[in-house]
Amino acid sequence: MQARRSRARSEPQANGVTTMAAAPETTDRFPADLEAAIRDLKQERNAVLLAHYYQESEVQDLADFVGDSLALAQAATRVDRAVILFCGVHFMAETAKILNPTRKVVVPDLEAGCSLADGCPPDQFARFKAQHPGAKVLSYINCSAEVKAMSDLICTSANAVVMAREFEDEPLIFAPDRHLARWVAQQLGRDDLIVWPGTCIVHEQFNARELAKLKIRHPEAEVLAHPECQAAVLDQADFIASTTGIIQRAVESPAATLIVATEDGVFYQIEKKLAEQRKTKTLIQAPGMDESCACNRCPFMRLNTLEKLYLALRDLRPEVTVPEPIRVRALAPIQRMLELSKPRVATAEARAR
Ligand code: 13P
Ligand code: SF4
Repeated sequence: MQARRSRARSEPQANGVTTMAAAPETTDRFPADLEAAIRDLKQERNAVLLAHYYQESEVQDLADFVGDSLALAQAATRVDRAVILFCGVHFMAETAKILNPTRKVVVPDLEAGCSLADGCPPDQFARFKAQHPGAKVLSYINCSAEVKAMSDLICTSANAVVMAREFEDEPLIFAPDRHLARWVAQQLGRDDLIVWPGTCIVHEQFNARELAKLKIRHPEAEVLAHPECQAAVLDQADFIASTTGIIQRAVESPAATLIVATEDGVFYQIEKKLAEQRKTKTLIQAPGMDESCACNRCPFMRLNTLEKLYLALRDLRPEVTVPEPIRVRALAPIQRMLELSKPRVATAEARAR
């Protein structure tokens, strides 16, 4: 597996948000119409472009498939092209590689990590697991291939509650997101989950006090939140779900005003779907600590620029690889999740109250 230096984490700003270079460090010249060039290269390379909802809108528009982590893993099982260009973060591309060992998986930027995956080093997790002999391991998909290889089952935010029910009467380690773990435990009425204390640096920034003030100004608004948010934010939410669940609810909700507590890439899809249905709603981003906080943009996801997409398709690198022994062990808990998620699990898209 490649060593990834997380530039995003090593250059934090005072407000906890990291600034990113907008373009790759390269002397390459780029075509005037980058989007057209990327579309042409996709054909030439026999590539499929999979993208997460947290990508820039122009990347979402170029994608053959846009989805949440579960839908992207499911889409990765249906690929019939030689190359997968994965526009999301590293653990998502790695999951696609685990499911597609014979295809080349490339990413725009190998440094597009995730605070949850990077905050759960495999050697430390192995020691943590050894401290709880006999416990089963349910890992959130936001983790490395090595951690997946140490897991009994994988989950995403769309199916975490359903997957946890597989271990109802057993000691259970949940890694690596403590906020998702707490929410899952609450849904199951369990207080005995053994939790790896990781967090998402994006969702953790949403501020409960500011949200309460915003709700007073908009008493008519429905609050939609991702389960990676802190408890004090989730306690004020009307609807808690994965990114797909949030987008669907935003479109279908009878509320005309929505406060959304997740990365702002979802706003593009919400607005697109609302326009298709000729609906108009007021969309408000959930507040961070203060107005200078761009906390609703994932610095890792936003490393992927059109220039880097173009280079990745042109040069077929950087490539994501997984050593075969780890891949084989990581595949089993992913496949188990995919089996248990057929048909698509909607149960976790639950009401908060
Ligand atoms: P979803 O699976 O809900 O899209 O979430 C992925 C993620 O990284 C959330 O921060
Ligand atoms: Fe990871 Fe958070 Fe970014 Fe999602 S939003 S990829 S959990 S850092």
